[in-house]
Amino acid sequence: MYNIENDIERVLVSEEELKKICDDLAAKLTAEYGDSGRPMILVCILKGSFVFAAEVFKRLRFPCAIEFMKVSSYGGGTDSSGFIQVHLDLKRDVKDADVVLVEDIVDSGRTLEKLSQLLANRGAHSVKCCTLLDKPERRVVNFNADFVGRVVPDVFVVGFGLDYDEKYRNLPYVGVLKPSVYQQ
Ligand code: PRP
Repeated sequence: MYNIENDIERVLVSEEELKKICDDLAAKLTAEYGDSGRPMILVCILKGSFVFAAEVFKRLRFPCAIEFMKVSSYGGGTDSSGFIQVHLDLKRDVKDADVVLVEDIVDSGRTLEKLSQLLANRGAHSVKCCTLLDKPERRVVNFNADFVGRVVPDVFVVGFGLDYDEKYRNLPYVGVLKPSVYQQ
């Protein structure tokens, strides 16, 4: 059997650390939204965030909906002139709701910057962003997530939802991919 773990150079965020990160972020979301009295919607950005979003979601004990979006962001260089294409949209009106966009990773920052603007324009009471991983070295727009699990260096990370060529999403930890895998 081809074991995908053989393609991993090293573990970057272990299962134990991931559990702690999810506990911590769920506690922060509860402190911020638990007593708001407003509708709260977690928006899982497919596909990469589905594992992380599920882990955070099941730790929340206040009323909270979950919705899914699939988007692609394009271009724009260092300004904000890029655009976002929506492949799968929300099934629920976000008007007057507190929205938390859940991502696996913030890289250039374009996806969350554009998506935040889009949902704010639809009348959300608030739009904040929660990401498992943050790669600030890769940022090309001025965007920062409100809730960050772990800052990581600019290395090729996979696992816990993150892929390379649609593989490795099913690893239970975040690992660094061997360069030989993507350089061939
Ligand atoms: C990744 C990730 C974010 C986005 C971050 O998604 O899940 O959505 O890229 O990049 P940015 O900060 O440069 O905008 P990807 O397009 O790889 O799709 P996937 O989640 O389906 O794998």
